[in-house]
Amino acid sequence: MNAKPLPEGFRLLPGYFDRAGQEALLAAIRKVVAAAPLFTPVMPRTGRPFSVRMSNCGPLGWVSDREGYRYQAHHPETGEPWPPMPGQLDDLWAMVVPNQPPAQACLINYYGPGARMGLHQDRDERDFSAPVVSVSLGATAIFRLGGTSRQAPTRSFRLSSGDVLVLGGEARLAFHGIDRILPGTSTLLKDDGRINLTLRRVG
Ligand code: SIN
Ligand code: FE2
Repeated sequence: MNAKPLPEGFRLLPGYFDRAGQEALLAAIRKVVAAAPLFTPVMPRTGRPFSVRMSNCGPLGWVSDREGYRYQAHHPETGEPWPPMPGQLDDLWAMVVPNQPPAQACLINYYGPGARMGLHQDRDERDFSAPVVSVSLGATAIFRLGGTSRQAPTRSFRLSSGDVLVLGGEARLAFHGIDRILPGTSTLLKDDGRINLTLRRVG
């Protein structure tokens, strides 16, 4: 039982994209990744590789390497500008974040077998007034949500293909992560693959 109310600004929109919408979005992301290949980011200082692979689309992309975390306008390996944001993602942003400027960055996280994402805050943006909006495609994930301090209690949710998650308001700086991917739950991507798309304004 989770007695504590969810933070204001946390919204889970299950099944926002239906199957046809998921397939169309996946096709658009495959085109992005053909131009801007997935790369393996490493942790600042230690150089330890992430278990997820990443790419980006839109004007800015989030990268992590030994120098730190940052946004930049080009792919770290090809040096090319990130491909444009697919129209479906601009439409999603306009629907969920009305009357605001468009998203500036879409991080593409690819989870293969065994990949996870440790508890963290999204705080490399200059401006936290816009929410973070994310889309899940493929295998179901166990998502963990905490509070704005690392010590705060956490709870977990399942994120399934087509679900949209919004972290705004009080939840904008909430710690969150992916504990694990549930095997055998993807009919969209092979080998229990999962893609998460995270839309943000950088400021
Ligand atoms: C992230 O917080 O960067 C990823 C969240 C997710 O994969 O759902
Ligand atoms: Fe995050």
